[in-house]
Formats: sequence, C-alpha cells, structure tokens
Amino acid sequence: MKVLVPALSTSLLLLAFIHPATSFKAGDFKTCSQSGFCRRGRALAERARENVDNWHSPYSVDPLSLSLVSERASLTARVKSELYPDIKFSLEVHVHEDGVIRVRMDEVDGLRKRYDEAAKWALAAEPSISTDIQWKVDASRARAAFGQQREHEVVVDFKPLRVVLNKNGKEQVVINGRGLLHMEHFRNKTVEEPQVETEEEGSDTQEVLKVNPNAWFEGNSEDAFWEESFGSWTDTKPKGPESLSLDIDFPRHGHVYGIPQHATSLDLPTTTGENPFFEEPYRFYNADVFEYLASATTSLYGSIPLMHAHSADSTVAIFNVVGSEAWIDIAHPNTHSTSTHWISESGILDLFILSGPTPTDVFRQYGGLTGTAPLPAHWALGYHQCRWNYVSSDDVRGVQKRFDEEDMPVDVFWLDIEYSTDHQYMIWDKKNFPDPVEMTNDVAALGRKMVVIVDPHLKRVDDYPVYKQARDLGILVKQKNGQDDYEGWCWPGSSAWVDFFNPASWEFWKSLFKTTKGSSWSWIESTEDIHIWNDMNEPSVFNGPEITMPKDLVHYGGWEHRDIHNINGMFLPKVTSEGLIARGATPKRPFVLTRSFFAGSQRYSAMWTGDNLGTWEHMTVGIKMVLSNGIAGMTFAGSDVGGFFGNPESEMLVRWYWVGAFSPFFRAHAHLDSKRREPYLLDEPHRSTVRNILRLRYSLLPVWYTAFHETSVTGLPILRPHYVIFPQDEAGFSIDDQFYLGSSGLLVKPVTRPGVTEEIVYIPEDKVYYDYFTYQTYRGSPKGKHVTVPAELHQLPLLVRGGSIVPTRDRPRRASSLMHRDPFTLRVALDESLTAHGELYLDDGVTYAHKEGHLAWRGFSVNNAGAQLRLSNVDLAAATPRSAVEGGAIATFDRQNAFQRGIESVRVERVVVLGLPDRPKRVVVEGGHDLEWEYAPGVAAGAKKDGVASVLTIKNPRLGVASDWAIQITL
Ligand code: NOJ
Repeated sequence: MKVLVPALSTSLLLLAFIHPATSFKAGDFKTCSQSGFCRRGRALAERARENVDNWHSPYSVDPLSLSLVSERASLTARVKSELYPDIKFSLEVHVHEDGVIRVRMDEVDGLRKRYDEAAKWALAAEPSISTDIQWKVDASRARAAFGQQREHEVVVDFKPLRVVLNKNGKEQVVINGRGLLHMEHFRNKTVEEPQVETEEEGSDTQEVLKVNPNAWFEGNSEDAFWEESFGSWTDTKPKGPESLSLDIDFPRHGHVYGIPQHATSLDLPTTTGENPFFEEPYRFYNADVFEYLASATTSLYGSIPLMHAHSADSTVAIFNVVGSEAWIDIAHPNTHSTSTHWISESGILDLFILSGPTPTDVFRQYGGLTGTAPLPAHWALGYHQCRWNYVSSDDVRGVQKRFDEEDMPVDVFWLDIEYSTDHQYMIWDKKNFPDPVEMTNDVAALGRKMVVIVDPHLKRVDDYPVYKQARDLGILVKQKNGQDDYEGWCWPGSSAWVDFFNPASWEFWKSLFKTTKGSSWSWIESTEDIHIWNDMNEPSVFNGPEITMPKDLVHYGGWEHRDIHNINGMFLPKVTSEGLIARGATPKRPFVLTRSFFAGSQRYSAMWTGDNLGTWEHMTVGIKMVLSNGIAGMTFAGSDVGGFFGNPESEMLVRWYWVGAFSPFFRAHAHLDSKRREPYLLDEPHRSTVRNILRLRYSLLPVWYTAFHETSVTGLPILRPHYVIFPQDEAGFSIDDQFYLGSSGLLVKPVTRPGVTEEIVYIPEDKVYYDYFTYQTYRGSPKGKHVTVPAELHQLPLLVRGGSIVPTRDRPRRASSLMHRDPFTLRVALDESLTAHGELYLDDGVTYAHKEGHLAWRGFSVNNAGAQLRLSNVDLAAATPRSAVEGGAIATFDRQNAFQRGIESVRVERVVVLGLPDRPKRVVVEGGHDLEWEYAPGVAAGAKKDGVASVLTIKNPRLGVASDWAIQITL
C-alpha cells in the first residue's frame, strides 16, 4: 500500500504561521531585572553584601509565644519583624518520622491571605510527625535531636530567626543565616509615593533612613509594588507586594543539583559571586519557550523546587514548595560550600529540609513526601514513533507497515494536533481520519498502542461539546473580575481553559475519556488502546504575557493565577490519567505524557524536555536535563529523538537513537516543517545501526522494567548520576554525560559529538568493567580511572560493572507485547572475587494485579565457595520485608500467585558468565543434570591486565526464570 501524505491543509499552514516566535527571543521572557519582585530580592541581597558588618535579619521569634505540641515534635511560635512591629507572622517547625523537617511561616491576620495550598497538591500524603522526639528550649533557641544516634539536630534560633540543621554538631543547612528572609506583608496602597529620593539616585543614606527607617533593609522605593509592565503587558497587582526572599545555605556542601527544569549542567553552576557562570538566577515560571537555548537558567516548561546539596560527607536536600514564579541565585563562597537565595512572588513559606545523609536517604525522603513514579505500563518502555503530524489513518497504517517491513520494533504511534477538527481535541478530522477506531484496532492488532494529543485550550465554539460543557458548568478560568471567562489565543484560535483547581472540573474531565456512551459527552470514538499526550499545559497562550496567562486572572477559591502558575500544569495529566484508569471495566495503567509539571507530577505522567533543536548541543543538554528531572522525581523522562526542530543529518540522528535508547522515555518526534525521518528512511548502514539500537532497547526491557519497579518503591531515579552511586568520589560529582541504568550495573556514555570514533569513560572504582558487546575488560582504580572505549557510529560505550547479572530477552520482536513469553539470557559479569548479583521484576505489565501480589521478583546471585561457583535464582518478593514490596501495599506474598503460575514455562535459555579464571571442570544444575556449555578462554575478572574476558556460555539450561534453582560451576 502506498503511504498517503495528503497536502497540508490551509488551516494547518496558517497555524504554523501563528506561533508567536520565530526563534528564541530573549525579549519574550523576563530577566530578573524586568521582574519587580526579583529585582527587589536581588537588591536586598546586594544591600546585605554591601553592609555585611552591620547586617542583621529583622525577623525574630517571640520566645513567650512558643508552644510545643504535646507528644508531637511540633513547635509553633510568633515571629516579629522589627521593621513592622504590628505585623504578625506564625512559625511552625515539625520533625517528621523519616528525618525531614518542615518549616512553615505565614502572615497572621493580615489584610489578605497568602496562598497556602502548594503543598496540598505536591504532597502524596500528609507526613507523619515524629512522636518520640522532644524539643529542648532555652532563652535563645529551641532544639530537637533526631536520627539513630541523635546525630542530627534542628535548631531554631530566636533572635535573629534562623533555622539550622546540624549533623554531629556541624551546620549542614542554614535558613536565614545571611538575613535575607523577607516576607513582604500585605498593605494598603498609599496614595502618595514616598517623597524621598531613591538610593540609586545617590541621596545621602542618613537622610533616607531618617525619612524611611526601613530603607536599610527594604530599599527606598516601592519598586513595582502595585503594577508592573512587560512589553505591551501590564500586570495589575491588586494584592500589592507579597514576595518572599529566603537564603538557604549549605556550609559543607560544594555541589548542588536539581531544581529542574533548566538547560544546564547537572552540577548547578553559579549565578552570583566572583565569577558567575550565568548572570541570571535560575527561574521557575512554566513557559512555552520557543527554540530554547541549550545552556541557560531561563525557565522552561516545568518547575520542581527541590535541590540536593552534596559533599563526600553527606547529602541533604531542601524542597521549597512554592507555586508562584520564583528565582534562585546560587553562589559558592568556596569550593566546599554553597549559598542560595530563593525569591518567590507569592505564597507562604513551606520548606522541607531533607536530612539525608546519603543520596538514597534523600530519595526515600522526597519519595515519602511527593510520592514515587508508579510502575508504568510495560509497553510504555518500548519505542514511540511520533511526528507533527501523521496526517491520516492511512498514513499511520503505512508507517506501521514500513516498521514491520524493516523489522524494526516499535510499540506506539502518536498523533499530534492535526488529527482533530480545527484543533478541537477528541473530535476527529473525519476527512483524514475517517475510521479512527478501526485505525487504532489495526495498530492494536499487532500488539501496539496509540497516543493521541489532548491539549488544555478549548476552542470557544458552541458545537465543541468539551468547551460547551465546561462553560456551562462554570469551571473555566476567569478574568481578573472573577466573573467572566478568560479568553486567550492558542492553536484553535480563540480559546478557554478549564480551571482544574475547581474540584467540579475533575469528574467532568475524567468522564470525557469513557469509550462508551453516557449521560454527558465522552470520547466514544476512541478505544482503551489510546493513551494521551498533554502538551501546552504551562499553559501556553500565544497572545498572553510571556506566552502564558496574565497573572491577575482568577482561579477557584479566588486565587490569582500568579499564586498557582507553576502548579497549574500538573492538573491536566493528573485528571487525564485518572480518567484513563477509570474508563474501562478493569483499571489499566495509563500512559500520559506531559510537557508542564510540578513537584509530585511523577505520580501521574511521564515528561519530555519539549521543543529541542536538532543540534549536538541540544542532544548533550537533553541528557543532563533527564538526569536532573530524575533527581526531582520525574524519572520517566526523555528528549525528542532527532530534535524537534530541524533536519538532523544521519550521523546525528543515529547518535540520538543511542541517546533515546538509554532514556527512560524513548520517543522520536519532529516538527511539522521537518522532513520525514522515520528510522526506516535512513540509508544503510545507518538503517541497520538504528535497527540494532531499537533491538538493544527491547532486549534490555527486563532491565528497564526492573529499574522502574525499584523506582516505584524507593524513589531512586532510573538514570543515576555518579554522585548518587558513588557519593564519596569527588571526581564524579560533576559528571553528567555518563550514568548508570538503575541498579543493573550498566554504565552508559552516549556520544553527543560528531566524528567520534572512541570515547573516554570514567570508571569510579577499583573494579573490572566489561564492554557489553565485545566483553573487553576495563579496570578502574581506587582513585577512579579514565578508559578509552571504541565508539564508532555503530557502537555505544556501554559497560557492565563487575559483580552484576543482567537479564535480557534477546529475540527480536516487532513490539514488546509479543515478548511476554520469551526466554531470558543472563549475562553474569563476575567481579574480582568471582561474585555477582542481579534482579528481575516481572508482572502482567498492564493491570494493577501486581498491587495484589501478582508478580515475580527474582534475585540472581553468584557465590564463590572456593572451587565452586554457585549461581542461584531466589524469590526476592518472598524474602523481602513487605515494606519494600510495592511500598508495603502487599500484605502477604503468594509464591503461587496467578502471574507466577502463568510464566512457569518461561525459561532461561542462555547464561553467559564473563571473567572465569579458567575452563570449568563441570557445570550442573544443583541436585540435577549436567548442562551443555562452551568456554572461550580469555581474561579473568581478577587479572591484572585487560583484554577480552573469558566467556562461559551455558546453553539452554531449561530452568524456569521464576523458579528456585542453582547452577554449580566447578573450577
Ligand atoms: C508543542 C510541542 O512541544 C510539540 O512537541 C508539538 O508537536 C507541538 N506543540 C504541536 O502540538
């Protein structure tokens, strides 16, 4: 069948034209100096620097107001500011059971109320406050010790107010140590501006202070208190100033990571101090940034205010739950410490200090607060083929056919916005998609799925049922008068947006995804094989300030858009995924991809890094961004393979497939104007290389799935940067171009430069590593070592850490759903002591039966008993404390569960053992028969020199992958 590529419709061309920017324009987005509250915050920091000897924080705790909640490690108190004696603030400090400290501060009985619901949306559950920790109070401070040896201590100093986390008596995290805390209280607009000249204009400081005694701290101008303009936009600020400035310092941690999403290195560069790397602070303001820069602190589509601070001694983190626009300056006063300054536009102070002390602890603590990424559908880990747009049902069928003809595995075909009539999402353009259900069924018949885009902007026409119902329900975002629906401009032209902060919108949105007719409109022209892509949910508004909503719009509860902007994007994927779960008779795991996100979004969706460019720089930074998102919980992440914009040459495209194959989310996508670049269109040898890359991804699906399971329980990221695995190896703290895949022992260094034939890989430890493909050994050293690994275009630097066992399924299939009964290969990479360990997690990959214990979780180990090695396969689910299995959800584990019974016949078809010192004398199943094997002599795991490792291949041992057994290798 000929692939039909109908001519692009006029409306489509028009829309391509409408997009507001032609390339990244610095002028489209604010710098700090163009944002009133950021300007004020930085000016405050500048005054503190200039007056460092006389500077003090005006905020203090009133000791008489202190109250300790009996039997809970909670302290509450009143805070005063010497600047405004009549203004009252409340302070709460809680110590949680898992070593997290929560600090909350709010204005009390103010003229208005500060937004205090950010944590309500970010947290997965209300944290448990410790009941066995006691506060001790004296005249100047309160303190509470916690931790196994009570090595940690939180201290609240009263005057000035400081909150400090100590470990073994040494400061780890200091809040307000530099006196930059400033919670601008609500006030009435004075009719007259102060009559004093501004400091900037050079007036005498003493004079200024006489007229305005607070000027030493606050400055002497009501800078952008009540109104602010940017371009042709004016932000009316009905509530006046309400920003929050806060210094958070890490006196013993020289490296900070996290605060995605920014296109920077993982180890966050400085923005202030002697030689700042960037001049602008990191900005959080979810934005649709057209052709974003590959190295900048500008905001992108999502915001997670979590920062890790790391040193060889410990890891701590802070989670500053703020939903408004925020800016963060980072400085390193010396190589061993970090100072940060957070400036946010509105909201209370709600800060979590995660005491660590290891990266693993911090991931557990953050997972405890915001939840972990749930186990996704297994097929979602396969390869996704997308472009803007596959233009008709026959186009989709044609693309699927070409993949099959070329024997290239793929799991999902995607439809971008052009499937819909006039961009009314869920309404098929019947001219080009006359048979959407049949098309989806044709894809599903080959074991595949579809993902279809549903954006949040609703075309404002009465015959679009989604819009009409939302309007009639009164659940649309309101103009600043709080009454009339807001209208903005997006792909469909004049649009409206559902206000997902309104609980009445939730059931409405969820019911849209029902595939059967009900009392209200639902998407009956869809099937349970269609999953959803939520794009443009920052929200992107083409004619809005900074391409988003005006800040003075009004949401449910009367909150301004200003207060919730960065949280807003997480709702669409949340409610969409809930709709997908609820749409069928049996709940199935949903797949939702989101562009915008906030802390906690990992509970609902995968993310991608948006509109990257087809350049080597973007390929490089995409890896760093995926690592950084993983630090902050959004571990199901990836970048558009090939780059969204442009037409990458074959070399770049092939390298990008290598990158994608080692990203948790693996999708190729391309802009409307780009040439078709599906992998089957590549010339040889590139086509075969990409086929091999796709097959490698599929053969490693057991490793990916096991890593996702681990993440769902522990919060550890799928892709692990060096500092996470080797927290004491300083040489690895800034590495972000190579990483480990889960706990599998696979170390990857994708090539992201042209013309490369070999690549340098850092081995952080005194261990043998094996090339995954050639079995060449590379030995590290106690101090870490750089080794050179072949990296031609058809090669990938992919090493297996000695001591690992990697389970794979090596039979090429056209989709992952066809692999569920395939046999396994175990690659055993022995370490110097001839031991190894690996894990494999399996379940049905689709339903929630695993939550009832229908799963197999196996542990493979090689133990060395002198003249004999023993490779065993044991039941980890049965042997592991319940708390570590599905987060404790499974009360008892039945070894005979239906899933395990169903895979009784799934076997291990090959075991490859690397690094034996000698040809074995015998290989037998314990208590059973001799096995067939062959041995290729080579370098032993413990040898001094490198070379190709010895390889023992055990052929078809006919052992069940999910049954208990052991193989003895007699040396
Ligand atoms: C912007 C998204 O980032 C891009 O991936 C998508 O193709 C276009 N919107 C059109 O939907």
